[in-house]
Amino acid sequence: MKKWITLLATICSFHLFAQQDIKLEEAKFKTGDNSNWKELSFDDSQWGNIKSSANWEFQSYPDYNGYAWYRFHFKLPSSIKDKSLWKDSLRIALGKIDDDDEAYLNGILIGKTQGWNIFREYHIAANNPAILWDADNVIAIRVLDTGGGGGMYGKDQHISMMDIIDGISMKLQFNATEAAIVIHNSVSKKIEGKLIVSVTDPETNKVFENVIKQVSVKAGENFLLKTANDVSKKLLITANFEESLTHKTIHISQSTPYILTPAPSAFPKINGATVFGVRPGSPVLYKIAATGEKPLQYAVENLPEGLKVDAATGIIAGTIKLPGTYTMKLKVKNPKGIAARTFKIKVGDVLALTPPMGWNSWNCWGLSVSTEKVESSAKALIDKGLINHGWSFINIDDGWEEPTRDADGNVISNSKFPDMKVLSDWLHNNGLKFGIYSSPGPKTCGGYLGSYQHEINDATTYAKWGIDYLKYDWCSYENIAGKDTSLATYQKPYAIMRDALLKQNRDIVFSLCQYGMKNVWEWGDKVNGNCWRTTGDIEDTWESLKSIGFSQTVQHKYTKPGRWSDPDMLIVGQVGWGENLHPTRLTPDEQYTHISLWSLLSAPLLIGCDISKLDDFTLNLLSNDEVIAVNQDALGKEAKQILNKGSYQVWIKELEDGSHAVGIFNLSDNYQTIQINWNDIDLKKANAKKVRDLWRQKDLGIYKNLFGTKVAPHGVTLIKVID
Ligand code: GLA
Repeated sequence: MKKWITLLATICSFHLFAQQDIKLEEAKFKTGDNSNWKELSFDDSQWGNIKSSANWEFQSYPDYNGYAWYRFHFKLPSSIKDKSLWKDSLRIALGKIDDDDEAYLNGILIGKTQGWNIFREYHIAANNPAILWDADNVIAIRVLDTGGGGGMYGKDQHISMMDIIDGISMKLQFNATEAAIVIHNSVSKKIEGKLIVSVTDPETNKVFENVIKQVSVKAGENFLLKTANDVSKKLLITANFEESLTHKTIHISQSTPYILTPAPSAFPKINGATVFGVRPGSPVLYKIAATGEKPLQYAVENLPEGLKVDAATGIIAGTIKLPGTYTMKLKVKNPKGIAARTFKIKVGDVLALTPPMGWNSWNCWGLSVSTEKVESSAKALIDKGLINHGWSFINIDDGWEEPTRDADGNVISNSKFPDMKVLSDWLHNNGLKFGIYSSPGPKTCGGYLGSYQHEINDATTYAKWGIDYLKYDWCSYENIAGKDTSLATYQKPYAIMRDALLKQNRDIVFSLCQYGMKNVWEWGDKVNGNCWRTTGDIEDTWESLKSIGFSQTVQHKYTKPGRWSDPDMLIVGQVGWGENLHPTRLTPDEQYTHISLWSLLSAPLLIGCDISKLDDFTLNLLSNDEVIAVNQDALGKEAKQILNKGSYQVWIKELEDGSHAVGIFNLSDNYQTIQINWNDIDLKKANAKKVRDLWRQKDLGIYKNLFGTKVAPHGVTLIKVID
């Protein structure tokens, strides 16, 4: 049985005739709460205006938590009903709302939902008396925000009639070699229509396949059409299904999961960071990351006193007592040859001199994380070779804590984690690091036990277990902070945990998680944070990736070795935030954008998927040493957005060797040829520059003033520009 992976055609699949929809893009808005605000007759002309696409924090209501109301005014022409086949129900799509909502149409409740990460789509009968056909209507939404981001967000908030096309879905599935188009009929009758499929080379527009087919699908069944027989090559598959009764259409246009990173050579090569930070006297644990035909033999010249290297595993361990910079030479050999590279250990007070790289349980397992699930991803990280590219942290997120402390006030792990020390020793013996999660509040975001008023106990327990990384998540500290939104209040719980961590006899990387409140990037270093989340939680959609990734425009001013802005964890591979995982909904090009942008941003790279189920595409995506080297560059700069032309952006990062990594991102839905002039991106010093394609690991040539590249929709060209 070949394993099919489904790429849900979210962005690329849309129903035509969308022009009949009524958009809900802008509303009247007021903070506070009053039940009269739901009424059609209420006069909101004095209220402010707000867009439904982004939280109110991004629209002049910073720091506001509590109730607020949106009021959308619109006319509802009966022509939209007449033009539909079914004519029986109206869809009111409100996107996502942070956190809870109650939605009223002309004063009548039409739906309510609790929880910030859930799409609101309410359906009401077309003859519901609340609907005023051919007249003015108001949808009023009462929103409760309990903390962090607040209000409506997402895209495509609209009103439309439900129709037969809503009962039909079309998606692309891939196995290792082939693609298939699958049409599913969830309508209670047989559906019919015309399917047109084409397979082309998006770079040259050469057509490989063109199929036109009359399709009929019985109720509840699937229709499957195989297409494109080498999906590791970059091909564009386009499918259009036109339902025969309504002539409404579903459209998909998507790239194959094409592979860019060349396979590693049999010759030894040393990868990963070139610098490592440790405090005097703290245990050093560093595994030399290297590829090449196995077995490899490891050695270190000028190894500082107090450290040892294991020749078979490449694990450097021990302690260094005195502060200073220790420069050594790493050597890795096999029968094919020998590789050598300079490496520095900086003994001082700054940890994480390059962004942490590893795995975190949240984006895949959510609160269902267990020892078995952690071990299985850790083992796969080793077995599939990710460890050889510098991936080293294994971090348990929320869900490991027992609800009550022991008699001495110590936190204990729940039955899913019978022995943290055993897990920790196993990870360390394999050259991996161990991370954990807590909240400064009494409860974590998932409702588990937090560290409030037990910070010293917890830091001491973490040190006893051999923890190397703590993600410290604001969550219920919101209730402690109450209405006090002063900077000091936001800093306080992090300063308390900082002091507790600094008392321990081992190094614990401190990851602040409070969603960017009070511009945490401006003060995260004061509480000794090594990284700080700059936004709310990411999810595996282009909208989420785009709004988070491309909004990191000021953070570079504060980023330096040991102080990293964190736009949240990676959303590639099998994700799901619970027991049921699904393949990321990002297209292959969006995933290349994700890893390129996170590398340019010097973001912590925490894989958020089940590594044991890693497919070839995702493994290839996470194993490109030249791309990873941009992220791990020892200079520790973060990329700047140097051009923003709306449909495309250019981000540039200065590297230690004097060269620059440049990401040319196509934010539009179509292929674009983008030309950049070195002057426009502040690379003025010399005219002619050498350009290397980092994903393909290939020199492209010398470019005098201009560099042009054809970039896929939502995709990237990532280059290194060398003077
Ligand atoms: C918050 C964080 C997530 C995750 C969950 C755990 O939402 O932002 O990254 O840690 O809490 O409950």
